[in-house]
Amino acid sequence: MSELEDLVANARAAFQNAADGATLENEKARFLGKSGVLTEKLKAVGKLDPALRKTEGARINRAKEAIEALLHERRQALADLHMQKRLDEEAIDVTLPGRGRAMTGLHPVTRTWHRIEEIFRSMGFDVADGPEIESDWMSFTALNNPENHPARSMQDTFYVDYRDSSGLFYNLRPHTSPMQVRYARMHTPPIKVIAPGRTYRVDSDATHSPMFHQVEGLWIDEAISFADLKGVYTTFLQRFFETEDLKVRFRPSFFPFTEPSAEIDMAFSSGPLKGRWLEISGSGQVHPSVVRNMGLDPESYMGFAFGSGIERLAMLRYGITDLRLFYEGDLRFLRQFA
Ligand code: PHE
Repeated sequence: MSELEDLVANARAAFQNAADGATLENEKARFLGKSGVLTEKLKAVGKLDPALRKTEGARINRAKEAIEALLHERRQALADLHMQKRLDEEAIDVTLPGRGRAMTGLHPVTRTWHRIEEIFRSMGFDVADGPEIESDWMSFTALNNPENHPARSMQDTFYVDYRDSSGLFYNLRPHTSPMQVRYARMHTPPIKVIAPGRTYRVDSDATHSPMFHQVEGLWIDEAISFADLKGVYTTFLQRFFETEDLKVRFRPSFFPFTEPSAEIDMAFSSGPLKGRWLEISGSGQVHPSVVRNMGLDPESYMGFAFGSGIERLAMLRYGITDLRLFYEGDLRFLRQFA
């Protein structure tokens, strides 16, 4: 065997023995590197007799090419091995049994929200959804609450740093009442709807959260009176709490968008909360100016509206005393409703 053939055989053996990429690259340097055996040989060609240079140079280059081919082959083989090893290690046994799903449940506020929808649907109310980022006009002005009127501070809200092309500015809605006007403008009487959803106020303590939920109710037709409000709301409470053993009272109050206005209070006639009056909703006959903003003639149409706190209802139903529990995400609390 010629010296060059020996060299190729040595390289083959060395590459074959290299068990990983780093070792292989070291072996490569020994043969093909700057001071590798082949490079030295090529350098020496220059010193040869001119007649021999060409043939000797070509022989060495052929050997070099052969070694390079061996190197590529081995590199590829090592890469394949590596991939195969990963595939084997990371294989997923699809025949193994699953881990099973944890029991999940709806949040108590969501449950309450669904329950409210169900009850009002059964009484013929539509259910509507509206934007949480609301124009100042819808949140206040359309509801007979003019700019700079002190009653606006009843619902101190979060303003959004944006004005649309008509100069309206926006807030995170402080109540669901804008839905009265939004919905009425898109429908014709009789208008009978509830609009549950998230609302926001600058407020935070055991019974107030900066984000909370309300459900708005609205019934407008030719002759819907306060008596209808009493009937509908009392029926709702009886169904919601699954008892007729409760009292409801309408306490005079003020809202710019209703006249007359009332707070709705309720008290259980038995149980741990027996006899304690609890405020659960604002309400009233829709103010004629608001009826006009709905695009209706207040001489022909009238009706009631109410806005109730969903958390309040949930707290009463489940006997929860701190509203913040709803939003802390503590599973020990939440699991009780699963
Ligand atoms: N929007 C009022 C509030 O958030 C509640 C309300 C709704 C009162 C509808 C009257 C009629 O306090």
